[in-house]
Amino acid sequence: MKHYSIAIDGPSASGKSTIAKILATKLGFTYIDTGAMYRAFTLAVLENNLDPKNEEECDSLIGKISIDFDENNHITLNNKDVSERVRQNDVADNVSYVSTYKNIRLWLVGLQRKLASNRSVIMDGRDIGSHVLPNASVKFFQIADVNERAERRYMENLQKGIQTTKEECLENLKKRDYIDSHRDFAPLKQASDSILIDTTNMKISDVVDKMYIVLKNKGII
Ligand code: CDP
Repeated sequence: MKHYSIAIDGPSASGKSTIAKILATKLGFTYIDTGAMYRAFTLAVLENNLDPKNEEECDSLIGKISIDFDENNHITLNNKDVSERVRQNDVADNVSYVSTYKNIRLWLVGLQRKLASNRSVIMDGRDIGSHVLPNASVKFFQIADVNERAERRYMENLQKGIQTTKEECLENLKKRDYIDSHRDFAPLKQASDSILIDTTNMKISDVVDKMYIVLKNKGII
């Protein structure tokens, strides 16, 4: 059976995971949240009292921890479900530093490619179309106005019981956008063959419909 891969990249809180989860369920593809993998690595750094701004200290965990997804597609660190824990502020505040380290990226990208090697996947992140899966069947690049993204993240945090203000969400997104798009290795950038979707003022169902049409036209569904 032929396997397909759909890449969705874009800045923080642009709605990638919401859309990817809906599409994956609709198509029967596996959803792979690569951001959760960088968040899990960051959690391991914090739990081991290492300094997220010290590359050598962070690198020391490569190959010594296990990062995977369980049967519910929840992210696991050393076989423990950490899907709620990795959304907390301490992880969000440090993940973009840890994500700049080349050796950590190479290790996680290896795991991501392995996960995508034997099934149809929808993978979301920052570098999926440009680096992880350069031959993806379809590539989307999802953006939205930063104030709307901050509002979305604030509402999401509120629902999850995570204490933040709208201003803190905005600052965190701006900081991560900057670090993610200015790092040397595999930065956040639109692949030249990806389809840009600006979701500002778009309903979730409209974004899904738009992507669905692209997938139909490309013969993926
Ligand atoms: O959910 P949100 O949009 O806030 O972010 P995420 O997808 O969970 O990703 C968290 C962080 O991981 C990002 O800000 C990046 O620093 C890093 N990341 C990355 O560098 N490359 C990826 N493919 C995915 C995430």
